[in-house]
Amino acid sequence: MTPHIRAGRGQIAETVLMPGDPLRAKWAAETFLDSPELVNDVRGMLGFTGMWRGNRVTIHGSGMGMPSLSIYANELITKYGARTLIRIGSAGAMQPYVKIRDVVLAQTASSLSTPSRGILRDINFAPCADFGLLMAAYAAAQTKANDVHVGGIYSSDVFYDERPDLNEQMTRHGILAVEMEAAELYSLAARHGCRALAVLTVSDHLLTQEALPASDRQSSFGDMVEIALEAAFA
Ligand code: ADE
Repeated sequence: MTPHIRAGRGQIAETVLMPGDPLRAKWAAETFLDSPELVNDVRGMLGFTGMWRGNRVTIHGSGMGMPSLSIYANELITKYGARTLIRIGSAGAMQPYVKIRDVVLAQTASSLSTPSRGILRDINFAPCADFGLLMAAYAAAQTKANDVHVGGIYSSDVFYDERPDLNEQMTRHGILAVEMEAAELYSLAARHGCRALAVLTVSDHLLTQEALPASDRQSSFGDMVEIALEAAFA
């Protein structure tokens, strides 16, 4: 047990998928895993462990934002031995050619700051995805209906951003999309010798103000779960 995860030793798999929303973790576990078992519900943050094609997998919520993800990813890695961590979540597009429903595989994650900043201090560390996971996810995404993009994303600390010039600079520097967790996940994975990747679906567009209709969210989310599972066990 840890302060935020009640699972016993051995109840968490080495491979962990991390959606932001705990109810998405429940849906994904019940939809894709054989015999999913609830292993955490502390503070309503749900985690399940089950089997996918003979492989043991945990699907555990991260919450929103890097401080929340940092708590769960730290405990999953250092107390439960997680070695492969894949974020599955939504992102806002920052390029005109990236469309609603497209999949974005985050090769790098830029940020203004992350919880790891406290130890990195003056180091401009460049958080990046595991190359093997990235390649396997790219191959898996070719079999899905929506387009896939690979490149840099921006991990923001704010959803309601009141500094438009910042997003303009991100767009100008080729950043594909904005979300709120990947940079810290990649930093933690680097520090602890783990593999990490963020598989994102575009849910809204910062340039056109379009948004994914609520009715389409489940099917897009299902594609991400399949891409993440196929990449983890490629
Ligand atoms: N996740 C999905 N859309 C987002 C946005 N526009 N900003 C930050 N995180 C997001």
